[in-house]
Parts: sequence; structure tokens; C-alpha cells
Amino acid sequence: MSTNPAIASLQPERQALKIPDHIGVIMDGNGRWANARGLRRSEGHRAGVQAVRRIVELCISYKVRCLTLFSFSSENWRRPPDEINFIFGLLRRFVSSDLNRLVAANVRIRIIGERAGLESGLRAIIEEVEAKSAANTGLDLVVAFNYGAKAEIVSAVRQIAGKVATGEISPDEIDEALLDGHIYTHGLPDPDLIVRTSGEMRLSNFLLWQSAYAELVFVEEAWPDFDEAVFLKVLRTYSERDRRFGGIAS
Ligand code: FPP
Repeated sequence: MSTNPAIASLQPERQALKIPDHIGVIMDGNGRWANARGLRRSEGHRAGVQAVRRIVELCISYKVRCLTLFSFSSENWRRPPDEINFIFGLLRRFVSSDLNRLVAANVRIRIIGERAGLESGLRAIIEEVEAKSAANTGLDLVVAFNYGAKAEIVSAVRQIAGKVATGEISPDEIDEALLDGHIYTHGLPDPDLIVRTSGEMRLSNFLLWQSAYAELVFVEEAWPDFDEAVFLKVLRTYSERDRRFGGIAS
């Protein structure tokens, strides 16, 4: 629970908020946050990891069932090698220290994205935390790393086409549920809410299939400034949305 009196005074409001089952987050603005403070971009990413720790704790506290964080897109390879190396270093430390601690806190972890581009040591640690946490029943924490939604859909289609080719399924059996079963997030609910920080208003190839009916909320704060006050603001906006899923207002 928050020790900040301003946040603590919001407890009655907190009870009235709708809590999404699944929140997806596009963590944007680390570089601009650092530049605005005369710091190197790497300091922005370091501060971004602190914000990752905060949102995981917030989701546990507010009983969000699933949190997906977009931490490195397939397009981020276009960045300078030094920055890529730095982000990989942060991820390696996060996976080997934080994730192990979270496994002990009943968090179930899944890393989604293309693993072929990752070095074998990192792949081994990822596989280990996933296996160790597979039976956990608390928050589902999904880290999208080397992830691109279009590539995810292509990979699902390729798997399904392979099954059609061997006669395991017929083309008539291809439906939304079958595709759902072949994407990285199979078994998890679709995101109810996608949040993007730092004022940009686009999805940038994040969970395109899964977010068909997600509410999109964009905030001006840069990712390193994401805290409980921003989280509450986002939940307030989400709670005010009328989700009709193509129907009419209730
Ligand atoms: C967006 O800011 C952030 C990234 C591309 C990297 C996000 C990485 C982390 C928060 C750290 C590693 C993650 C984990 C889960 C340990 P940007 O660099 O695009 O910022 P800008 O748009 O201001 O340049």
C-alpha cells in the first residue's frame, strides 16, 4: 500500500476503479527523459528499469491478472550498438536477479518474441525462469523482448500452414480461436488496456492481434516517471470508458 499521503487519501476512489485483467505497456520516452536532464540515454533506460519494478509491484497490489511490457522491439535493432548492448545488459540483470525474486513471489513469467537472435546464455536463463514459474498462480508477467506483432502473426500462420500441409487440420478448421492458440500469448486474456507513455500515439507493432478491443490510453509522462499517481490516472481514464465490443451501450 502507498505511504504517500496524497495516494493514501485516494483509497475510497481506488475501490471504485475498474481493474483491467490484462494491461499492456509501451514504455516510451527513456531517451527524452535523460536528454531533458542532461544525462546519457543509458541513464534513461536505467531509470526505466526502476519504473518496471514499480509497475510490477503496482499490478500485484491492485490485483491486475496479467501485465505485458514492451521492452525491445524487432525494430529497435536500428539503434546504435552501444545502446543495444546497454539495454541487453539491463535485461540480462533483470532476468537473472529481479525475475528470480518475482518467481519466489508467485509471479508467472513468460518472455515473448524472437529468441533466435538472443545469445544462448540469456536464452537459458529465460527458459529457466519460465520453467520455474510455470505453476505460479499470481501475476502473469509477460516481457516482450525482440518482439514484433507482425512477425508473431506470421509465425502463427506458418505453424498452422504446416499443420494443414501434413493433414493434421483442414483449412475449414482455421478460426480465431485456432490462431489465438498459436500466438505467443496463447492462454492469456487479450489486453483490456494498452498504455503508452511519453505522448506518442501509436501501437508500434505491439500486440496487434490481441488488442482488437483494447482501450488505448496515452499519457504525457516519460516512462521513467511512471509511478502510482500516473497508474491511478490511467486506471481512472480506463474506468470511465464505455466498452461496447461492437455492441450498444448497456
Ligand atoms: C523506450 O524509450 C524504451 C526502450 C526502447 C527500451 C525499454 C527498456 C527498458 C525500460 C529497460 C529494460 C527492460 C526490462 C524489462 C528490464 P526510448 O529509448 O525509445 O525513448 P525516446 O523515445 O525518448 O528516445
